[in-house]
Amino acid sequence: MGEEIKEKLLKLVNDPVPTSGSKVTIVGVGQVGMACAFSILTQHVASEIALVDVAQDKLTGEMMDLQHGLTFLSNVRVQASTDYSITAGSKICILTAGARQIEGESRLDLVQRNVNIFKCIIPKLIEYSPDTILIVVSNPVDVLTYAAWKLSGLPKYKVIGSGTNLDSSRFRFLMSEKLNIAPSSCHGWIIGEHGDSSVPVWSGVNVAGVRLADLNSDIGMENDPEDWIRIHKEVVESAYNIIKLKGYTSWAIGISVSVLCNAILKNQHCVYAVSTYVKGYHGIEQDVFLSLPCVLGENGVNSVVLQNLSKQERIQLQRSASTLGSVQEGVAW
Ligand SMILES: NC(=O)c1ccc[n+]([C@@H]2O[C@H](COP(=O)([O-])OP(=O)(O)OC[C@H]3O[C@@H](n4cnc5c(N)ncnc54)[C@H](O)[C@@H]3O)[C@@H](O)[C@H]2O)c1
Repeated sequence: MGEEIKEKLLKLVNDPVPTSGSKVTIVGVGQVGMACAFSILTQHVASEIALVDVAQDKLTGEMMDLQHGLTFLSNVRVQASTDYSITAGSKICILTAGARQIEGESRLDLVQRNVNIFKCIIPKLIEYSPDTILIVVSNPVDVLTYAAWKLSGLPKYKVIGSGTNLDSSRFRFLMSEKLNIAPSSCHGWIIGEHGDSSVPVWSGVNVAGVRLADLNSDIGMENDPEDWIRIHKEVVESAYNIIKLKGYTSWAIGISVSVLCNAILKNQHCVYAVSTYVKGYHGIEQDVFLSLPCVLGENGVNSVVLQNLSKQERIQLQRSASTLGSVQEGVAW
């Protein structure tokens, strides 16, 4: 009956294309994966979203829940399955699958469990989307970005970790609270590990080009009477505190990943702090991925921005690289 109406209503002129150019796959439909999906939908970033997980009922439930809101958004095709064939032709694959931290656990504690999960997932994604760009979100994000690069065989510029884009946003928010200026007008970068050894680039923190280090030469030091270092400590403690309060973090990481997808799919050439291959930058000698400001376009990372780091910041970044290098040595690949 329905078909009859369709035939009476519509005269086919040309077959619709089966897959459009801005398809995004999300592997892992937990708290983080669904926050990414929701942000991508509501910010009109993708034309198609494919959700993959091992939990079939959760997949179907999440898919239906998103589909029922499409009337109020764009007509995005939302699919969900445990079968990776639905991911075919994805421009971006976001990885949020795996164990999350429990209260008191560090990100690096998750490493072997999540590397093992990636060994199952990555080859299947590449089989169906050999030219895709991978955005890794699962923790420890920097080590898993390295794992994703190794397991995928993709060029380095196509494997990106969500990295310290979130930490930088947390920093700018806390800075905005201190100065009563909008976060988007507060400029500061957190680089290095997304985790306990992240590096705040105090030498570049500014508002309208005015470097706060020129107004307070002790900024970022333990002896600073204004205690600016506190806001970096709060950034490092943020995830631990939120996990203690609500069990997981989701909204801010979801929004930040959606913004990265937007920069890639729309070839925006915007600069974000994301995890990229850093050997050779700032004296780093290890084969590791860490966050530096990167220009993102439709091929992934177009360029790395070479910041003028202070001697102290370079040393901290090199320490971050050496911590990750040792963690990677302990992993069974
Ligand atoms: N990089 C960041 O800034 C950031 C921020 C928050 C969370 N995270 C990380 O993101 C990850 C997900 O966190 P969450 O809170 O969504 O966890 P969650 O437990 O809510 O969801 C994880 C999902 O992964 C799925 N999964 C497990 N094994 C799988 C497999 N082999 N294939 C497909 N799916 C599989 C589970 O079924 C589950 O739905 C964690 O590693 C967490 O630490 C990263």
